Amino acid sequence: MAPHLSLHFPDSHAVNITVIGTGYVGLVVGACLAETGNPVTCADLDQAKIDGLKQNVLPIYEPGLDDYVERNQSQGRLTFTTDVAAAISRADVVFIAVGTPPDEDGSADLRHVLAVAEQIGKHMRRELVIVTKSTVPVGTAAKVAATVGRHATLPFHMCSNPEFLKEGAAIDDFMKPDRVVVGVEDAAARETLGDLYGPFVRSGNPIIFMDIPSAEMTKYAANAMLATRISFMNEIANLCERVGADVDNVRKGIGSDGRIGPAFLFPGPGYGGSCFPKDVKALVRTASECGVPLRVLTSVEEANDAQKHRLFGKLGELLGELKGRRIAIWGLAFKPNTDDMREAASLVLIEELLEAGAQVVAHDPVAMHETKRRIGDQIEYAESSYAALQGADALAIVTDWNEYRHPDFGRIKGSLKSPVVVDGRNLYDTRKMKSLGFTYASIGRGGKA
Ligand SMILES: NC(=O)c1ccc[n+]([C@@H]2O[C@H](COP(=O)([O-])OP(=O)(O)OC[C@H]3O[C@@H](n4cnc5c(N)ncnc54)[C@H](O)[C@@H]3O)[C@@H](O)[C@H]2O)c1
Repeated sequence: MAPHLSLHFPDSHAVNITVIGTGYVGLVVGACLAETGNPVTCADLDQAKIDGLKQNVLPIYEPGLDDYVERNQSQGRLTFTTDVAAAISRADVVFIAVGTPPDEDGSADLRHVLAVAEQIGKHMRRELVIVTKSTVPVGTAAKVAATVGRHATLPFHMCSNPEFLKEGAAIDDFMKPDRVVVGVEDAAARETLGDLYGPFVRSGNPIIFMDIPSAEMTKYAANAMLATRISFMNEIANLCERVGADVDNVRKGIGSDGRIGPAFLFPGPGYGGSCFPKDVKALVRTASECGVPLRVLTSVEEANDAQKHRLFGKLGELLGELKGRRIAIWGLAFKPNTDDMREAASLVLIEELLEAGAQVVAHDPVAMHETKRRIGDQIEYAESSYAALQGADALAIVTDWNEYRHPDFGRIKGSLKSPVVVDGRNLYDTRKMKSLGFTYASIGRGGKA
């Protein structure tokens, strides 16, 4: 690592930023840094992805991101390439935003991160600030530095800058972050990252500088805390059903306590996505390697796995034999406003239904294409939410897309063979559903209506 403590980009020279890995995170980071005037190169090995992006065709659905990409690309601040080496050679600051999928034992697979580190060491042509943006276990920045250092002839400065954006609201989260966490070891890196993030924190939200291991740990602790809240509420919801309580009332009752707060207290069909499941696993794994068992988190994971079977269980309770039944599913993505299907609860439900011999017909406003890519034609895909209901024995709601919130209940009832709705997101009023003649089961609201 560089002994240098001063890194001065001349005022006349814009800071060239290279973001390596153009997935959800890399693309949002690149587009948002370009939006504030920086020249940004996004590099990825995926030729099809980069070819598409050059034509403003986005590989993911993320509200508002297409405008950012198009505007900044047309104004020449944002470029896309598969030539990672060239992108590194012209950079002053490199963000590493490649994937860190779970390894077989649950730990984070650092192959991509360390492959990029090697590339950086070989191809850097200037003193460089290297930022790990990917979610990586404590000690990874040090491994990146060691790998870069084996090849580098110029000084460099390491930073850890975990990303807290939420898919579906990524642009807003990046442009107006609650806080920016930056792990640094020297003043030069601190100054560089402070400058880059200045435009995003003008309303006074903090850039929290800390040591690198603490920054790395902060990201895992944040996701683990959020996953814990979800699993906790799912278990409370399951108990509410047994004792005749309504989890919505309980949620409001505890969420208004300033010490608890209202966010992330909604029960559901189990958390999914690319982050919570893998980050909880990775943290549990790190802890067990260190001989510090994280018992709470082990249970969080177990509770979530069990929760993913609840919708199937409820359908079985209401319909009896599922073989030969036709089940409509509304919502496939792991949450609304994204087409991300990683670890989605819908995939568990679909698998169970197919194994039980049921037919599945699904609708999702944006994720059907991605579902088809993953599981093909094992299920039917409906053109509209109502088309999915035609001749179905029941409707299961998995994702709380806005368009499902105020449906035409008469049309639902008229289309279904029997008026059975299993709602994994508590979208509807239980009394209203009963008065409309539905057999309605939701999560944690006193069982059936
Ligand atoms: N998705 C989220 O909501 C989110 C939020 C915060 C943090 N993170 C973290 O950010 C990281 C990236 O996540 P993501 O969802 O953007 O992943 P992703 O899978 O969508 O994208 C990763 C990209 O990296 C590319 N890549 C892999 N190896 C490469 C290499 N050697 N050189 C160049 N490109 C390479 C892949 O082709 C892919 O396009 C992960 O560590 C993740 O945990 C994700």
